[in-house]
Amino acid sequence: MLTSVQKVFKTQNCGLPPWEIKSEMPFKRKILCIGAGYVGGPTMAMIAFKCSQYKVTVVDINPERIARWNSDDLPIYEPGLDEVVRAARGRNLFFSTEIEKGIRDSDVIFVSVNTPTKTFGAGAGMAADLQYWDKTAREIRKHSQSSKIIVEKSTLPVKTAQAMERILACGDNGLCFDVLSNPEFLAEGNAIKDLENPDRVLIGSSQTTEGLLARDVLVEIYANWVPKNKIITSNIWSSELSKLVANAFLAQRISSVNSISALCEKADADIQEVTRAVGMDSRVGNKFLNASVGFGGSCFKKDILNLVYICRHYDLKEVADYWEGVVRINDYQKERFILNMLHVMFNTLAGKKICLLGFAFKADTGDTRESPAIRITKRLLEEKADLVITDPKAIDNAKDDLKGVTGSISYVEDPYEAAAGCCAIAVMTEWSLYKELDYREIYRKMAKPAFVFDGRNILDHPALHEIGFNVFPIGKPSLTHF
Ligand code: UDX
Ligand code: ADP
Repeated sequence: MLTSVQKVFKTQNCGLPPWEIKSEMPFKRKILCIGAGYVGGPTMAMIAFKCSQYKVTVVDINPERIARWNSDDLPIYEPGLDEVVRAARGRNLFFSTEIEKGIRDSDVIFVSVNTPTKTFGAGAGMAADLQYWDKTAREIRKHSQSSKIIVEKSTLPVKTAQAMERILACGDNGLCFDVLSNPEFLAEGNAIKDLENPDRVLIGSSQTTEGLLARDVLVEIYANWVPKNKIITSNIWSSELSKLVANAFLAQRISSVNSISALCEKADADIQEVTRAVGMDSRVGNKFLNASVGFGGSCFKKDILNLVYICRHYDLKEVADYWEGVVRINDYQKERFILNMLHVMFNTLAGKKICLLGFAFKADTGDTRESPAIRITKRLLEEKADLVITDPKAIDNAKDDLKGVTGSISYVEDPYEAAAGCCAIAVMTEWSLYKELDYREIYRKMAKPAFVFDGRNILDHPALHEIGFNVFPIGKPSLTHF
């Protein structure tokens, strides 16, 4: 029985597409993912876990990363990931550094390499740095011996698929490559749940016969476990743009709340009471309304700056300024946090020991990319504070982030030990373990007066006040003993 894809190819009288002429192979499809990072690793692990009929290989230029994917000590911490990898690895999930072979052997290639913000030349600090992505496109062209479907998984500026197609089309090997956009919406710390039960899967394709056929192949892969009504399709540019806009909207929500948190602190209002009232309006919704020391992560800032850059490119100054405001408020929130610490701790932090509770950009991940803790650490060091950093999963990344930074920093796994002798603790990450600590014990061992700056509003502020702490939440009246 022919699949719908095969049927269309037959009726088009152009033969089966190369990725379908595989019936004698033990695996129905050979999927390759280039880039074994936070997106590529978990996404491919889930595809392999759900679809034992496909062979899924993940390659990377970084041999240490691949070695860790092949070990019991995975390179990223993500709840539930160990189990999924363990179930599929060696069965139909493989991690390798053999990029060339991987390209040669595959029918479908996901590109999941990093696209950080450019740090040099035109668009520095704004545009996406596409060098890894460009290099990957050229590698695919060089080593391919059959036609393939290429899936953009990395977040990319609008129209990147066109560039990919142009690079791939330059080969004189007569091969054809169909480029699809399939942005990843998973949130770190929740990646396995997001992959298993996504709000939606978005697939953008060109609207040509070949493009639509390639799209159907990818739909078929996801349909192994995602309900059909959650797999949505669009033209390729809408798909690329949707990813940037989804992240911009989410980040905008946090900046909106954080901007109001500043007003709450002046007006003696309570941001949690305000967001509860606002969020109960079903048109607004109650998710993603937690005031914080600022948003972090590899996506929000990068994607908004990308959006801003594109808008400026098209001369949409007002639109660009509007979205840039989201990033400005985020920087303001971090600076406000520091200035507040400085102000309430008697205008000097020099020589004062301060404990940062958490360094990851959010709970349940060891990832520290764009974590507000990085900026806070650097600013506290400028004020000559003595820093003690603790985090259950992110200490190694914190050490990397702060390599070469001058000042007094120590790293301590145990939060009780980390806080001992400190004048202040500042919550940077909403790890639930920080809610459960014995703050009476912590207070006993701290220098007095003792301060708590709760950058995530996760602690029981009246209880801490009663113990003796001077408590400074975000967007709520402070509780002091002065
Ligand atoms: C985000 C998007 O959620 C995801 O869809 C996309 O694929 C990648 O970018 P991620 O960066 O992993 O995911 O984490 P997210 O949960 O969105 O949090 C981002 C930042 O916002 C974190 O620093 C988090 O602490 C902060 N945040 C989140 C708040 O400050 N307040 C909130 O209410 C929610
Ligand atoms: P993301 O969060 O988008 O997944 P990461 O930085 O975690 O980003 O992962 C991207 C991965 O892509 C890294 O492991 C990096 O080594 C890999 N990579 C970058 N360029 C190439 C390339 N040309 N070939 C293979 N892997 C690459």
